[in-house]
Amino acid sequence: MDWPRIALEDDPSDLLRKAQRGNRLDDAELAHRTGLDAKAIAAWKRGDGVPTEDQARALAVVLRLDPGKFADAAARRWYPGAELPPDVRHHPHDPHPSNGYLFFLQDGKTAALVDPAGYPQTLLRAVNEGPYALRYILVTHKHADHCDATADVARAFPDAQIVMHKADAHAIGDLAHRALPVVDGDELPFGDDAAIRMIHTPGHTDGSSCFLFRETVFSGDTLFAGSVGGIFADVATYDDLLASVKFKLFSLGDHTVVMPGHGPPTTIAQERAHNPFF
Ligand SMILES: [Fe+2]
Repeated sequence: MDWPRIALEDDPSDLLRKAQRGNRLDDAELAHRTGLDAKAIAAWKRGDGVPTEDQARALAVVLRLDPGKFADAAARRWYPGAELPPDVRHHPHDPHPSNGYLFFLQDGKTAALVDPAGYPQTLLRAVNEGPYALRYILVTHKHADHCDATADVARAFPDAQIVMHKADAHAIGDLAHRALPVVDGDELPFGDDAAIRMIHTPGHTDGSSCFLFRETVFSGDTLFAGSVGGIFADVATYDDLLASVKFKLFSLGDHTVVMPGHGPPTTIAQERAHNPFF
């Protein structure tokens, strides 16, 4: 299925800000270490112009980014190519600018929902479009744009099991006690012979979770096409986020399609080849 060509979640200014914050360098220190002008760095972070090839490479070295990949991102030379797998449906949340997904078994009925958020009417319309038996409500993390309609969906589908890491489950209020307390590597049975694997990827939040179904991984705000999520964890750090992606997500097969919480889909192979954070 075709995917509308939407902008990458993060533009060069976002990448620069995230990497700078992650490395705890202020503009003066970054300017000093790169030999670049602090005013120019501040302008790039505002989205006012972009660094040249050489400037991007100099920034990348200090910011522990991949120089070639960051230079490509600064020049906007790369865009992911990935198609929505046939057993997955995407619905943009409304009014949040985040991605929700439904995926199915071969029967076309047994379904799981990733990230119940936005106007409940819009979401329930998507979920009710077919004669679906919703088996799971999978929540990638605690932010409102990924879980603020959990109660409405749980009410409409009382047999659906909510799945959310306990470190983030407080965000769904009283429903937290109904959430299955999953840990890294847990396999959720789905139909007779399929399973959904929970992959704990702390960094964006402490309880951030990705869900793997066959050759598709729903990555929440952990991994975007060409970027990673910002750090909003109490315990986990920027380095934890990078390790979560590098050691857990990048160990998935090359052809695994990544369905992120924001922005267009990508694949594990393309992220290894083009994501400047790795
Ligand atoms: Fe988030």
